[in-house]
Amino acid sequence: MRLIFLGPPGAGKGTIADIAKDAFSIPHISTGDLFRMHIRSETSLGKRVKQILAAGDLVPDSVTIEMVKERLAEDDASAGFILDGFPRTIPQAETLEKITHIDCALNFEAPREMIIKRLSGRRVAKQSGRIYHLEYNPPKVPGKCDLTGEPLIQRPDDTEEAIVNRLEVYQQQTAPLIDFYRSKGVLKDISATGTPEEIFQRTREAIE
Ligand code: AP5
Ligand code: MG
Repeated sequence: MRLIFLGPPGAGKGTIADIAKDAFSIPHISTGDLFRMHIRSETSLGKRVKQILAAGDLVPDSVTIEMVKERLAEDDASAGFILDGFPRTIPQAETLEKITHIDCALNFEAPREMIIKRLSGRRVAKQSGRIYHLEYNPPKVPGKCDLTGEPLIQRPDDTEEAIVNRLEVYQQQTAPLIDFYRSKGVLKDISATGTPEEIFQRTREAIE
């Protein structure tokens, strides 16, 4: 199953992908997570994109496409994948069409106030990136990851200024992909309100 998770920042793409990857036994490929891994490891790519991510701007298409091509060529992606946060521009989507076939693009929809609440309360494990929320999904011990005990941090792009910019960038550059995939007959709209389990159930039904 080859899936794309579309939707604004904070809609819950990463949270639902984490459930779906186990349910469907396919890898969760998040371009944001891949960039953050490079930033943590201080690779040359990481150094190049660090400020871009912190500001909430998009990494240039050529750089992003190269990274995704390499990731999709790995063995575990041969039977399917969840692409979370890619494509994010029309040129990225056109390039993806040349690389592989897509079964379904899920468009997670959430109102702006909900997005702001979700992003401002988000905390992530420093190394693994595991996702928490101060109110909606708090860790058992405050400030620590349930699985590893590592510290929870706020993503540098979850500041008010960067959130506003990310929403703007989403409207201008990524929202046009909704019509792109709708015109190809593979788009499914999913309401991203409710619990993650309810949203995953809707996702599963939409795919089936
Ligand atoms: P990326 O990491 O993809 O960020 P994003 O698209 O802004 O999305 P988020 O990860 O912020 O939100 P999400 O929808 O995954 O929500 P989550 O599940 O965490 O990209 C980061 C940056 O990388 C970009 O800005 C750009 O610079 C660069 N980049 C990435 N891809 C690129 C590309 N293709 N081209 C160019 N540049 C690229 O949930 C959010 C919060 O809500 C969490 O706290 C969670 O616990 C909570 N929550 C989730 N679901 C629920 C629920 N149902 N109920 C209550 N709370 C919930
Ligand atoms: Mg995410």
